[in-house]
Amino acid sequence: MELASAHLHKGQVPWGGLLLTASLLASWSPPTTGQVTIEAMPPQVAEDNDVLLLVHNLTQRLASFAWFKENTISTNNEITRFVTATNETITGPAYSGREIIYRNGSLLIQRVTKNYMGVYILEMTDERYRRTEATVQFHVYPLLLKSNITSNNSNPVEGDDSVSLTCESYTDPDDITYLWSRNGESLSEGDRLKLSEGNRTLTLLNVTRNDTGPYVCETRNPVSVNRSDPFSLNIIYGPDTPIISPSDIYLHPGSNLNLSCHAASNPPAQYFWLINEKPHASSQELFIPNITTNNSGTYTCFVNNSVTGLNRTTVKNITVLEPLSKPTLKVTNTTVKELDSVTLTCVLNDIGANIRWLFNSQSLQLTERMTLSQNDSILRIDPIKREDAGEYQCEISNPVSVEISNSIKMDVLFDPTQGGLSGGAIAGIVIGAVAGVALIAGLAYFLYSRKSGGGSDQRDLTEHKPSTSNHNRAPSDNSPNKVDDVAYTVLNFNAQQPNQPTSAPSSPRSTETVYSEVKKK
Ligand SMILES: *[C@@H]1O[C@H](CO)[C@@H](O)[C@H](O)[C@H]1NC(C)=O
Ligand SMILES: *[C@@H]1O[C@H](CO)[C@@H](O)[C@H](O)[C@H]1NC(C)=O
Ligand SMILES: *[C@@H]1O[C@H](CO)[C@@H](O)[C@H](O)[C@H]1NC(C)=O
Ligand SMILES: *[C@@H]1O[C@H](CO)[C@@H](O)[C@H](O)[C@H]1NC(C)=O
Ligand SMILES: *[C@@H]1O[C@H](CO)[C@@H](O)[C@H](O)[C@H]1NC(C)=O
Ligand SMILES: *[C@@H]1O[C@H](CO)[C@@H](O)[C@H](O)[C@H]1NC(C)=O
Ligand SMILES: *[C@@H]1O[C@H](CO)[C@@H](O)[C@H](O)[C@H]1NC(C)=O
Ligand SMILES: *[C@@H]1O[C@H](CO)[C@@H](O)[C@H](O)[C@H]1NC(C)=O
Ligand SMILES: *[C@@H]1O[C@H](CO)[C@@H](O)[C@H](O)[C@H]1NC(C)=O
Ligand SMILES: *[C@@H]1O[C@H](CO)[C@@H](O)[C@H](O)[C@H]1NC(C)=O
Ligand SMILES: *[C@@H]1O[C@H](CO)[C@@H](O)[C@H](O)[C@H]1NC(C)=O
Ligand SMILES: *[C@@H]1O[C@H](CO)[C@@H](O)[C@H](O)[C@H]1NC(C)=O
Repeated sequence: MELASAHLHKGQVPWGGLLLTASLLASWSPPTTGQVTIEAMPPQVAEDNDVLLLVHNLTQRLASFAWFKENTISTNNEITRFVTATNETITGPAYSGREIIYRNGSLLIQRVTKNYMGVYILEMTDERYRRTEATVQFHVYPLLLKSNITSNNSNPVEGDDSVSLTCESYTDPDDITYLWSRNGESLSEGDRLKLSEGNRTLTLLNVTRNDTGPYVCETRNPVSVNRSDPFSLNIIYGPDTPIISPSDIYLHPGSNLNLSCHAASNPPAQYFWLINEKPHASSQELFIPNITTNNSGTYTCFVNNSVTGLNRTTVKNITVLEPLSKPTLKVTNTTVKELDSVTLTCVLNDIGANIRWLFNSQSLQLTERMTLSQNDSILRIDPIKREDAGEYQCEISNPVSVEISNSIKMDVLFDPTQGGLSGGAIAGIVIGAVAGVALIAGLAYFLYSRKSGGGSDQRDLTEHKPSTSNHNRAPSDNSPNKVDDVAYTVLNFNAQQPNQPTSAPSSPRSTETVYSEVKKK
């Protein structure tokens, strides 16, 4: 205690000697204190902020402790010293006015600059003049200023140019990391995107309009983060092929023609309208009120980008169509007998209209009995059947209008004498035919066996049996040696309509077979 005070009273002179002694003493006897550690709070200090060098495990029995700057303990490096006995704080040559020493050993340094960065030593002297030391280090970083993005090409052209963006940080580049984002999404290297100079430079190869941005460059060091103002590229592109809206191409007379043209382009395109290839207006919109059919024609939108010098056009054909007038549906007789034919005629004034036939208000399903002619304006049903009875209409349409004719109700009278072949009648015919074949076969066999008496002829006859059902037609057998021998017959038979179809199956007598000719070659 006394020594320490005495020494302090003597001033700065004996420091070097004492220090030598101290280190010798320290090496002789290990410190009785626990392991002293010092922590810089924070370890990375932003310029102009305070740092506290916090001493842990300092024993209370120390006589004094002193802080030194730099890596060596020397008189010139002493910042400040605290003497426990007197509660006295003494400043040394390295004291800058910003340091405060606490009785617990900790040192506060206020408003640090980069110059304060480095190693600090705490030298502790106990009551027996034994000295120990501990060191600590901290780093001072500048607070980052707002960075600025610069481009090496202010008007790059899409598909032609590459652009380099550089993040200017205006701060000591030490330990700065750069982070780029576009439209809020962080960017990393890709096909057309390269980073260089430690990510300070972003290069966009072969820019497209989608590279416009905005870009933000974020700079970081251990103590601060800053962002540039958003930066957008003025990418020159287009014009693209213009689009004319609305898309309608058919209009009524008397309506207004109101067309608008749009083409993506930077700088914005200049717009021109041509009607039937003649210049009409230099505007993006085209308005013609109360149009007539004379306004039909080709409408061309011409766009030009004054910087790229490129031109594009889109042509739209506008047709002004008179609305259709109501068509008239005609028929000679609305009442027809079944199996008769009927012809419905759709009478219209307008050429070029599309015709659709309606049956009971639904689109008519055409059957093979129906035929359309004269651009679908005539519907013929032949033969007409009971299921064809109903309401008929014709509908005409063009792109601007639809008209439906009057409705015609067709009645189909069922006439039993004209009725189709009923099941009974068909059965009668079949039975008659079979009977006829049997009869002919018998007759032919009789004639043939009478003439030649052959044994193999039965096969020939059998082969020719089908011919008997072919009314008035020669058989199609072209086997020459048989034709010579074989007689064939031409037969007529009439299947008479039974008066009552249901009685037919049991009445083979209704079939009369007439043997008309027997020919022999
Ligand atoms: C204090 O010293 C003790 C004993 O040496 C040690 O266990 C402890 O970790 C030290 N504390 C700090 C904060 O260094
Ligand atoms: C030193 O200061 C502390 C607290 O401020 C006090 O308790 C102590 O008595 C003082 N010692 C002397 C010698 O003045
Ligand atoms: C030492 O004292 C200072 C100032 O009172 C305080 O901020 C710090 O936490 C103390 N250090 C320890 C290790 O107690
Ligand atoms: C950023 O850079 C541009 C061009 O180099 C310059 O005009 C502008 O003043 C800079 N902005 C700042 C904040 O330094
Ligand atoms: C640039 O991109 C355009 C299309 O975006 C492509 O046609 C052209 O070939 C590209 N040029 C180069 C050098 O990659
Ligand atoms: C800008 O930088 C890119 C990439 O380095 C380069 O290809 C391009 O030619 C530069 N543009 C100008 C106008 O210097
Ligand atoms: C550059 O940025 C990429 C992410 O885009 C990152 O992975 C890389 O570590 C950065 N390089 C440097 C030197 O900061
Ligand atoms: C731009 O992005 C849009 C939508 O992602 C894409 O459809 C278009 O093709 C891109 N244009 C170019 C020139 O890359
Ligand atoms: C539209 O034009 C027709 C003749 O072309 C004319 O009779 C009619 O009054 C015009 N309507 C308007 C609203 O101008
Ligand atoms: C585009 O049109 C302008 C007139 O508007 C003309 O002077 C120019 O030569 C055209 N450019 C091309 C590439 O056709
Ligand atoms: C527009 O009309 C012109 C001339 O009448 C014709 O050559 C061209 O094919 C038409 N274009 C379209 C899309 O109909
Ligand atoms: C229509 O046809 C029916 C049946 O064929 C017939 O009775 C009627 O007289 C015909 N009416 C006219 C007006 O021809």
